Amino acid sequence: MKVMQVIESGQGPTLSAADVARPTPGRGQILVRVYAAGVTTTELHWNPTTRRKSGEPRLNAIPGHEFSGVIAGIGDGADGFAIGQQVYGMNDWYEEGTTAEYCLTEPSSIARKPASLTYEVAAAVPIGALTAWQGLLDRAKLQRGERVLVHGGAGGVGVFAVQLAHIHGAHVIATTSSQTVALVKELGADEIIDYKTARFEQVIDPVDVVFDTVGGAIRERSWNVLKPGGRLITIVGDGGADPRAKDAFFIVEANNFQLVEVAKLLDGGSLKAFVNAVVPLTDAATAYAGKVQQKRGYGKAVVVIGTNQ
Ligand SMILES: NC(=O)c1ccc[n+]([C@@H]2O[C@H](COP(=O)([O-])OP(=O)(O)OC[C@H]3O[C@@H](n4cnc5c(N)ncnc54)[C@H](OP(=O)(O)O)[C@@H]3O)[C@@H](O)[C@H]2O)c1
Repeated sequence: MKVMQVIESGQGPTLSAADVARPTPGRGQILVRVYAAGVTTTELHWNPTTRRKSGEPRLNAIPGHEFSGVIAGIGDGADGFAIGQQVYGMNDWYEEGTTAEYCLTEPSSIARKPASLTYEVAAAVPIGALTAWQGLLDRAKLQRGERVLVHGGAGGVGVFAVQLAHIHGAHVIATTSSQTVALVKELGADEIIDYKTARFEQVIDPVDVVFDTVGGAIRERSWNVLKPGGRLITIVGDGGADPRAKDAFFIVEANNFQLVEVAKLLDGGSLKAFVNAVVPLTDAATAYAGKVQQKRGYGKAVVVIGTNQ
């Protein structure tokens, strides 16, 4: 099968095309023919991309861990799905990724593809929507009527964080840049701050929850806008030794129930998904380098792999 693999270019990691054997689903596994795969550009630097679970260096990893496609094989004991079903979901960070014609996953990591979405759009959903859900609802335990500040409201994760917070009855404040103010307002943000022209801590009242998708100084400045007892959640693991940032950080996990619920919201029209750019498999390196020319400026980039678009 055709895949893209991470290689060292001398100026950091990039992707190179390769042909490798198509995987066979083992016990409890499902083989998916991938039609589209989401891109998280920072993933090339993440630990599971560069190291095995054992700590050994990992070479030639296939990146991308979210996808849409159809089920092409079912291992013994992998219940609940049938060959040919249209699915979307994630696979394990240490598994070979989805920037490939086929990937392996598990029933607990996938769900039926939202029927109203194309494969391209569906592939832009799993990581963003699950990260937003798990951060806001499982970790921050966001309550109706609470005030939440979402940093990076037009990003791959941010578009879902703004919408889910709004759907759950929160007062949503989002930071974004000027080109995406109108979009983020449409997603349900009550207050929007153009982060290039204003300092959020100078213009907002204290909040119950901060959902940080940017990290660094933005997260540091955010502690001061929390109400007493407020919760900060970050998805950027650059907090070093700061115990508050360490505690606030989490990594998204696949979740079948949440994927099913997200699909219902998408098909019902109360949640929207956005594709920033679409590239063929051969141009995946450009997408991972963040250098696609034709970008909408919001949502996430997607690599298309199948012919069944
Ligand atoms: N821990 C996890 O499980 C997990 C899961 C998914 C992603 N992540 C990480 O989360 C981060 C965001 O991911 P993503 O896919 O959403 O990335 P993304 O699509 O690149 O979105 C980032 C957004 O942040 C905005 N931004 C940049 N600087 C900002 C600032 N100073 N203030 C406010 N907004 C700012 C950008 O807006 P402009 O483009 O307008 O500048 C962009 O819309 C990445 O570091 C990724 O690795 C972690």
